[in-house]
Amino acid sequence: MLRDPTRDEERGKAPMYETHNDINRNAREKITGILNARLADAIDLFAQAKHAHWNVKGANFIALHKLFDDIAGAVTEYIDDIAERVVQLGGVAEGMIKTVAQRSTLPAFPSGGAWETHVNALAAALAHFGKNVRADIAHTDELGDADTADLMTEVSRGVDKWLWFVEAHVQRESSK
Ligand SMILES: [Fe+2]
Repeated sequence: MLRDPTRDEERGKAPMYETHNDINRNAREKITGILNARLADAIDLFAQAKHAHWNVKGANFIALHKLFDDIAGAVTEYIDDIAERVVQLGGVAEGMIKTVAQRSTLPAFPSGGAWETHVNALAAALAHFGKNVRADIAHTDELGDADTADLMTEVSRGVDKWLWFVEAHVQRESSK
């Protein structure tokens, strides 16, 4: 039977490239795996922010329309930094839409609804992404890559800020 390169299992594992970077190959392979997982989440997050930017409606329209686009813009930078770190470590940045659709761990985004629905859904997406990035900081640090841990710390700080900007629209006092 002919190979079908559009199927993930037949496309095979992405290769690793030789590099003068002194982080050992085993660690680089693990780190690029972590980064590619987060790249998929980040590309999904970008699409969700744009979806919210386009479709939000209601009295808060213009503020949320602009905020959601600012978030999409910031996430574009995270995407590029994460992808380029993969390549710096000798890996292949796997940002193809079909791969992203299979790999993203983000919850599905509602296709419609009131502005509160968009706010709550994007807050959930940012929180989910932020949790994964925080775990990546610890894992990449354990693997001896302080630079990737630093990059993920920068992303984490940004995501926490965007989460605040979004959830402040619906935030209530904590009962605990
Ligand atoms: Fe726009």
